Amino acid sequence: MIRIAPSILAADYAALADEVARLGDQVDWLHVDVMDGHFVPNITIGPPVVAALRRRTELYFDCHLMMTDPGDYLEAFRQAGANHCTVHVEAGDTESLIGEMRALGLGVGLAVNPETPFEAFAGYLDRLDLVLLMTVHPGFGGQAFIAEVMPKVERTRAEIDRRGLSVAIEVDGGIESHTLPVAARAGAEVFAAGTAIFGQDDPEEAARLLLRAAEGEHERAGR
Ligand code: DX5
Ligand code: ZN
Repeated sequence: MIRIAPSILAADYAALADEVARLGDQVDWLHVDVMDGHFVPNITIGPPVVAALRRRTELYFDCHLMMTDPGDYLEAFRQAGANHCTVHVEAGDTESLIGEMRALGLGVGLAVNPETPFEAFAGYLDRLDLVLLMTVHPGFGGQAFIAEVMPKVERTRAEIDRRGLSVAIEVDGGIESHTLPVAARAGAEVFAAGTAIFGQDDPEEAARLLLRAAEGEHERAGR
């Protein structure tokens, strides 16, 4: 399940449907960064924009909820057409949020900030579809990749393999042609990328090159 998830955080918000169309057929996921101005010091988009985009694309919506109270909005995101939601372990209430996402038929993700340790999320791995290991501090696009997160990616990969779990590891933040291979070698398989795709002249070609790089690294690693 190696895939690139372009983050619309770096797209032109005045032309979102056109921006998504520029991805061509290189990707089947779209990473939607939802920021509430409280969990992170920035505000982006919510269910109405997800609903509007849903009418214009069939991409799988990977909604990254950087919110203090995601539970208040899960149903609204589902109704808007979200396929998957990822909540932050730092926001708390993780047990019940996982149950609510499952009950709503959403893909279930848990996000983890760079400084949050493995022990804070390891106990949930068997109940997740995806664990998102942040490679920047959440809140803004265009930040530098934090390589110090890689030991946590490696440890998570080893734990998932040891226990035979099917949870995917996503990395998010500062992913571009030089950093993606580093994260892929550590064991990540889903790569959220904003600037490296929507910040380029040809987002389709940018996504294609990132996907090829990820597949190459996984092949070399014999996965
Ligand atoms: C940051 C967001 C990321 C962001 C990545 O809080 O969660 O998804 O869009 O942007 P780039 O790829 O520009 O670092
Ligand atoms: Zn994100």
